[in-house]
Amino acid sequence: MVKANENYRKIQASYLFTEIAHRVSAHQAANPDAKIIRLGIGDVTEPLAPAVVEAMHRAVDDEASRDKFHGYGPEQGYAFLREKAAEFDFASRGISIAADEIFISDGAKCDCGNIQELFAQDVAIAVGDPVYPVYVDTNVMAGRTGANDGGRYAGLEYLTCDASNGFVPSPDVLKDAARKPDLVYLCYPNNPTGAVATKEQLQAWVDWARREKSIILFDAAYEAFIRTPGIPHSIYECQGARECAIEFRSYSKTAGFTGVRCGYTVVPKGLVAYAADGSAVELRPMWTRRQTTKFNGASYITQRGAEAVYSPEGAAQTKATIDFYLENAKLVKEALKSLGYVVTGGDDSPYLWVDVKGDSWEFFDRLLKGANVVTTPGAGFGRAGEGYIRISAFNSRANVLEAIERFKKAIG
Ligand code: MLT
Repeated sequence: MVKANENYRKIQASYLFTEIAHRVSAHQAANPDAKIIRLGIGDVTEPLAPAVVEAMHRAVDDEASRDKFHGYGPEQGYAFLREKAAEFDFASRGISIAADEIFISDGAKCDCGNIQELFAQDVAIAVGDPVYPVYVDTNVMAGRTGANDGGRYAGLEYLTCDASNGFVPSPDVLKDAARKPDLVYLCYPNNPTGAVATKEQLQAWVDWARREKSIILFDAAYEAFIRTPGIPHSIYECQGARECAIEFRSYSKTAGFTGVRCGYTVVPKGLVAYAADGSAVELRPMWTRRQTTKFNGASYITQRGAEAVYSPEGAAQTKATIDFYLENAKLVKEALKSLGYVVTGGDDSPYLWVDVKGDSWEFFDRLLKGANVVTTPGAGFGRAGEGYIRISAFNSRANVLEAIERFKKAIG
């Protein structure tokens, strides 16, 4: 008899987006003619930028030639991509991140989920509430929590993000925490609320982490949506962050790579955790070891595509697509506000966080059945998400305009 990993039994239900997919399939099966509009999972709808497609075609031709063929790639990713990321994502903003501190991967979700392997079994962890479920579930699977009680796992510190703090928690709330968190997951622009953190707010976290010798795991997957001047695109814009933060980046939302798969993680040199005997252990070599053992990298073709995001044409084309999604967000936000809803996000983020003043799964079902529109119930992101739904701006303009008309009828 093989024993199963008991930790999986603590996970309450299926992954949020799997549960939604089941409900949508059931609704479609019962209503085969319904034209369902999907504003649920944050999956992009617009095609890849032409510059990216051309670069990938060239890369396919390379793979077809004996001279330019590539087998296994370099362990951290190709230098051509790491150097561009270092230059355009960091140096251009006055941030010092070297190409060899960047680890190319097949996306931020995997890296956010895998990073916890570098830390001891008994580290104390803090997450936002509401939260991107991957940070929580991967730690539950790894056995770092107790049972789920009323939507929260024992042993995790939840940082409530609500209207009272503008959906950005302050480290001050940890003064009374039962255990000082060793790891804090932060995501700004935030998934799911669409809120952004100011430089002062992030600096407060960095100052706290340095003081406490804690580490911030900063998910910057949505940074390309920032339009408000002064909002940090990277945790490393804060002084001292190199000493206390790991950052995750993604080409998924930035450049429509949700299907292509590419992202990267920054692990600065000198960033350390501590061994049981108190000696400092550098995390960068550990991440290298983890990735080289368990991962073979994103493909050459993919990395050439990602490189093209930084070319002048690629940058302009991907920016235009993000502007298009932001316009979608603005249209939905204005429509919902005119219907009397209080809406957060959407200005520097593809997500709108809508106060529905009631049960969020019930409101989700009301929109699915009454308007044939898929959203994401806030409760699926945590207890503090109850009373909200998340609406994603990733869709065609025609579908967004149609969804707005349906909202007016179903929830106006
Ligand atoms: C979301 O809808 O929250 C995202 O698409 C999930 C993800 O990026 O993995």
